[in-house]
Amino acid sequence: MTELTTESAPKKRILSMYQCTGVFTLGNFLGAIRNHVGFQDEYECIYALADLHAITVRQDPKKFRKYILESYAYLLAMGIDLEKTILFIQSQVPEHAQLSWILNCYTQFGELSRMTQFKDKSQKHADNVNAGLFTYPCLMAADILLYQADFVPVGADQKQHVELARNVAERFNGLYSPTFPVPQPLIPKHGARVMSLQDPSKKMSKSDENLNGTITMADDPDTILRKFKRAVTDSESQVRYAPGKDGVNNLMEIYASLTGKTMEEIEREFEGKGYGDFKPAVAQVVIDALVPIQKRFKELMEDPEYLEKCYTENAQKAHYLAQKTLSKVMKKIGYLPAKLH
Ligand code: TYM
Repeated sequence: MTELTTESAPKKRILSMYQCTGVFTLGNFLGAIRNHVGFQDEYECIYALADLHAITVRQDPKKFRKYILESYAYLLAMGIDLEKTILFIQSQVPEHAQLSWILNCYTQFGELSRMTQFKDKSQKHADNVNAGLFTYPCLMAADILLYQADFVPVGADQKQHVELARNVAERFNGLYSPTFPVPQPLIPKHGARVMSLQDPSKKMSKSDENLNGTITMADDPDTILRKFKRAVTDSESQVRYAPGKDGVNNLMEIYASLTGKTMEEIEREFEGKGYGDFKPAVAQVVIDALVPIQKRFKELMEDPEYLEKCYTENAQKAHYLAQKTLSKVMKKIGYLPAKLH
């Protein structure tokens, strides 16, 4: 065997986060988490639960605490490997809130006003259009920039926020000196926008009132099959990827994303068959993916001490990296260093 004498180039760094306001959906899994699991060998990965972002919408404290722990366990069950990756809880690393305030002062009101998620959410929660909802992208920029991330893999709905983080990074670097790498969004080819099974013009979401539109990671096989059988399609009954066939296109995207097949291969597989064959086939690949995750999730939830040890150690690792960036930023702005210890 040849001995490895040359040092390999440092791995590029990836950062991504997930809100924990309920059980993860198939959209979170296909658009984000499953791909993030796949990055762990090639990149240095840092992932986290965005529980500070989550309170831009009111949360019931009891349910919220449960969702945070369960979401952490789900991420491990889906394949986040703590031997390779840092997985922490955002609220346990205070630098996120600190850098977020600073970046608020380097982001323009006009930039934030253009964010489509703000427009959508402020319509949906018209009784609680709080300032946090408006400045949410500054916190997200802080999440990304604190860890000097090169890439930010996200579903298509988060692209605009990553672009704002790029603008803020460039602005700060230009005003002072190079401080942050300018992060690039990574959007998957299939599954980047998984739509509601009941209304394929809307993205699949945890907060959808129509439960039949969303597959959650906790759904049992019968529920998954039932939801797919009821999925809205069209009157054509031909499995074909085409404009105007949003419901079928969405099912094909889900199928493609889980089987690795192209749209042409799927069309050939179901040639001469109708939606009556196609829908259960999509349900089956989803069931096959979710059942082992649910089993592992159950095992993890039976060991809360292990989970606590994991998130505590990982918050410490994240804090170590985050405070290095934050102190660099504060020094550049002109703050005096605090000596608290
Ligand atoms: P969140 O919690 O809404 O979603 C987590 C990830 O899942 C993706 N996603 C989807 N992808 C495809 N189809 C869908 N229906 C679907 N629904 C969700 C999202 O694009 C995301 O990648 N603001 C972020 C969380 C966040 C973050 C960050 C992300 C906070 N700080 C820093 C990246 C970097 C959010 O609300 O994602």
